[in-house]
Amino acid sequence: MVINLIGKSIKIFEELDSTNNFVKMNVSNLDNGTIIVAKKQTDGRGQRSNKWLSKEGNLYFSIVLKEGINRDSIFKNIIRSTIAIVRTLDSFGIDASIKYPNDCLVGKKKISGVLIESQGSSKLEYIIIGIGINVNQLNFDDLNNKATSMKLCLKRNFNVIDVLNVFIENCDSIFDSNSELLFKEYISKSVVIDKSIIYKEEEFKIINIEYDGTLIIKNKLSEQRVAYSEISLKEFY
Ligand code: BTN
Repeated sequence: MVINLIGKSIKIFEELDSTNNFVKMNVSNLDNGTIIVAKKQTDGRGQRSNKWLSKEGNLYFSIVLKEGINRDSIFKNIIRSTIAIVRTLDSFGIDASIKYPNDCLVGKKKISGVLIESQGSSKLEYIIIGIGINVNQLNFDDLNNKATSMKLCLKRNFNVIDVLNVFIENCDSIFDSNSELLFKEYISKSVVIDKSIIYKEEEFKIINIEYDGTLIIKNKLSEQRVAYSEISLKEFY
């Protein structure tokens, strides 16, 4: 039984280039489950080599996992982290959903993103779960129709460390929870099933998400199994 693993040690920095980078550089000195927080990031990174603009006022943090991990742990931790984000937002009165594999949305707008990075082949040395939650940001410039924040949803300011503490409380039960139940919760919060996507220039319908993260997509000509790392569902915003 794992109790209080996530966030047993928390280090908060005024500014980092990227909390994921900090973990990578210092991984040998960080205990399993340590959380690194930066009030702002100068080189925040998102999925597919995108930038994650990281002005002060939002929550930017990375969790390092070093024990009991392998390749299969990556999707498991995508499930854990997105559920922890959804439950955290729910605690503040915000109903969020999950856009496969690891974005959280309010309506059609993104409120949170997760960047999971790992080192090692079959036996992993570490997994870094980097999480950005839009907390107090009001203006996303040219992304205003694609992004939102807790403040935009509820018209009030939040203390980012309060949000982190609620996230950590949620992790206590999630990291100790039955994986099948968590997977069911992930599916129930997921917005992509039955939606159409373009994959390799053909239109498909998403039929299902499997337990290991494989996406099952189908059209009149074929049914295909696609790994979560192979697909981007950009058109959902
Ligand atoms: C995405 O593209 O949706 C993923 C965004 C992940 C951003 C977080 S902020 C904390 C951590 N440090 C980074 O540089 N990126 C992640």
